[in-house]
Parts: sequence; C-alpha cells; structure tokens
Amino acid sequence: MSLVQARGVGRTVELADGSPLEILTGVDLEIAEGDRVSIVGRSGSGKSTLLNLLGLLDLPTAGELHCLGVDVRRTRSGTRDRLRGDGIGFVFQQFNLLPGRTALENVQTPLLYSGGRAFWQRERLAREMLDRVGLGERLDAKPERLSGGEQQRVAIARALVRRPRLILADEPTGALDLETGAEVMQLIESVAAETGAALVTITHDPSIAARSTRHLRLVSGRLEARELEPAGGASTEAGMAAGAAA
Ligand SMILES: Nc1ncnc2c1ncn2[C@@H]1O[C@H](COP(=O)(O)OP(=O)(O)OP(=O)(O)O)[C@@H](O)[C@H]1O
Ligand SMILES: [Mg+2]
Repeated sequence: MSLVQARGVGRTVELADGSPLEILTGVDLEIAEGDRVSIVGRSGSGKSTLLNLLGLLDLPTAGELHCLGVDVRRTRSGTRDRLRGDGIGFVFQQFNLLPGRTALENVQTPLLYSGGRAFWQRERLAREMLDRVGLGERLDAKPERLSGGEQQRVAIARALVRRPRLILADEPTGALDLETGAEVMQLIESVAAETGAALVTITHDPSIAARSTRHLRLVSGRLEARELEPAGGASTEAGMAAGAAA
C-alpha cells in the first residue's frame, strides 16, 4: 500500500521582506510500506522542508500530497495531528529530548496524547521500547547524563513507541561517530522491519545512504534518482528484507 504520493509538490515561504522563497518546486515521490529511501542534497536544498511536509508538520503550497491515505491539503489540522501522532515517527539530528525528564518519561510523551490502551499502558510500552534499544537499565537517566548515542537511542524509542507506519529521520546520525551511527541506523531498521514501516532517511553520509534501497537527491526543488557508486554490500541485507516484506 502506498503511504505517500507526491505529485508536483511545492513549498514557497514568505521572507521577512515579503518576497517569496521557492524552496520546493515540483517534488514527485511515492513511498510504499517497507520502503527504505535515502535523500541527499546540499545544505539549504530543502530536505528538512520536505520531511516536514511528509510528516504533516507543514502544508505544501502547490501540487498534490497524499500521506497515510489523506489528501493533506484538504484535511483539517486536527485530523493531520491525529494521523501524525498515530502513524508517523520523527528522528532528528539533535535528538530533541525533553531536558530534566528521565528516559522513561521522554519515551512516554507521545503516548500521553493517544487514546485507550496505549495511554493506559504507556509506561510498559515505553519500558519495552527502551529495552529494545538497549537502555532497559537506564530508564531513570536524564538526557544530560547520557552520551550522544544513548540520547539518540532514547529519541528512537520515543519515535517508534507508537509503532508508526512511516519513520522520518532527519540526519539521525549527524551528531554521532561512524560506529555509533551505524548501530543507531541498524536499530531503526530492525524496528521498521518488525512493523513493516517505511523509512525515509536524510543523510550526508554515503555509508548511511547505502543502507537504503532507493536513493534520491534533492536538487533545484525536485527529487531525482541517484545511482550509488558500487562499493561494499551494506545495502544488500536491508534490500533483501525490504524485498521480502513487499
Ligand atoms: N519558514 C521559513 N522561512 C524562510 N526561509 C525558510 C523557511 N524554512 C526554510 N527556509 C529556507 O529554505 C531553505 C531550505 O531549508 P531546509 O531547512 O529545508 O534545508 P536543508 O536541505 O534541510 O538544509 P540542511 O542540510 O542545512 O539541514 C533554506 O535556505 C532555509 O533558510
Ligand atoms: Mg535540514
């Protein structure tokens, strides 16, 4: 099933002096369950802007965008909020954890807004997910006491605790060393594989991009397909997993 369909999606914002800035001009993109998509592009090319559109945080100003079954430009903001909360998990470069709150509290936050079982079982679900990312012993640690890799694992647990169908990662390894970055990606991928979620990763790092099965580049406000240099087999396993899930 198609999770995202973008046709000619554009986003223009107004600058402080009132002049328009066209960030995205015509993005075409289709994402299906289980897809692993990497997006590269120069700084300022609009990668985060695009991810915010896919994550229903902002609206396109042109074109058509369907996400998780709705036409986003024709949907009320309350519906978009609910869809985002239920179906989309964000992982950011700078973790964005709540300072002064424990790992367990941070991971529970998305569940505070969900109804029914997920709300009542939020502590158990958060514990399980922290265990899953290897932090079962650090439930009471606050972000300021955790290493970068540990903070990103808390952020991943928080993004995935609701088992989203679409995982959007904006340079998730940018603040980590190579080895920790690879571990963090492996973690995201394995949780995504369990739930059949699609994963979109923005990255500058070729070794992280190589883990995806589809490679795109954002240039002049549009996405174009990108060939990877044939090096190493890092993407083979993920590719087979995605193929088997399809
Ligand atoms: N709300 C806004 N108002 C004005 N300019 C904006 C707004 N949002 C984004 N921009 C500009 O649009 C361009 C694209 O921004 P964006 O954050 O999407 O780039 P990016 O590809 O993610 O860059 P980076 O790799 O540095 O994170 C930048 O020049 C940015 O300053
Ligand atoms: Mg960015």
